[in-house]
Amino acid sequence: MEQPPKDWDCPVLEQVNVSADYYLLSVAAPQVALSALPGQFVLFRCGTRYDPFLRRPLSIHQVKRERGEVSFLYQVRGVGTRWLAGRNKGDAVSMLGPFGRGFTFSGRGKRGILVGAGVGVAPLLFLAGELSALDWKLVILIGARTREGILRAEVFKHYGNVKIIAEDGSTARQGTILDLFREEVEEAHWEMIYACGPVAVLKGIQKISKETGIPAQIALEERMACGVGACLGCVCEGATGETVRYLRVCREGPVFDSHEVILRD
Ligand SMILES: Cc1cc2nc3c(=O)[nH]c(=O)nc-3n(C[C@H](O)[C@H](O)[C@H](O)COP(=O)(O)OP(=O)(O)OC[C@H]3O[C@@H](n4cnc5c(N)ncnc54)[C@H](O)[C@@H]3O)c2cc1C
Ligand code: FES
Repeated sequence: MEQPPKDWDCPVLEQVNVSADYYLLSVAAPQVALSALPGQFVLFRCGTRYDPFLRRPLSIHQVKRERGEVSFLYQVRGVGTRWLAGRNKGDAVSMLGPFGRGFTFSGRGKRGILVGAGVGVAPLLFLAGELSALDWKLVILIGARTREGILRAEVFKHYGNVKIIAEDGSTARQGTILDLFREEVEEAHWEMIYACGPVAVLKGIQKISKETGIPAQIALEERMACGVGACLGCVCEGATGETVRYLRVCREGPVFDSHEVILRD
């Protein structure tokens, strides 16, 4: 029988304002640190009572298993994330999880491209660490509208060759992350693409993956209510078969093979 989701009451270890409205929250959560997989998410209660009622999903950004520590990289968007950003060392936060299907990988020494647009880099750091431990050769592309949105590039450098780009020209390269991605794809032989970011970026990756035959895994974000597969609030359209098939982002995802889903703006 399926176990009910676990509600963890976690002490905040650190809350850092990394840039503009982006924050890095680290909590003590030994059981989550042990069981989490890259690409999975947790649901935070963002208040002390029931307002806001719905929990907010955040991807697992970094895990330090030996220290029982789990970190989240997030952007303050509205009432929930603003409340979370107000939690400081010693406060407790309640989270459920980890949930969802994460990134898949196997084998040693392969070549992969990681593509993170804006706060889409959040689930990729944990993944980069796991792939690097398997001796994967990684190129990590990080793009954003402005330099402030290029997040944690220095930390990603531990795991691969990092290239950054900002649309407004505030970095050495000016352009979109898809410009950078097209160049990389042409330059070398790749075995897997992993990506997270806005739908427009994921659509571009989906198209290039189809054209080149390089498999891609994409992490989707949908507004979530229950987060555990019960309410169908997070469905996206599946791309396989004749009949329309809906997939729950919280359950069948949030990571999908790029050919599995139809992306809509
Ligand atoms: C599986 C998953 C993983 C996620 N991981 C991260 C992460 O690691 N870091 C991070 O910064 N954000 C992440 N998000 C998005 C994050 O959940 C939302 O930004 C958050 O719920 C907003 O809550 P709020 O109360 O602050 O804003 P609200 O007041 O609820 O909304 C403010 C604005 O944010 C938009 N928004 C709300 N929810 C989402 C959503 N799910 N996706 C996109 N836009 C949304 C709304 O349309 C609105 O414009 C993730 C979402 C999902 C589904
Ligand atoms: S959020 Fe309820 S089914 Fe996904």
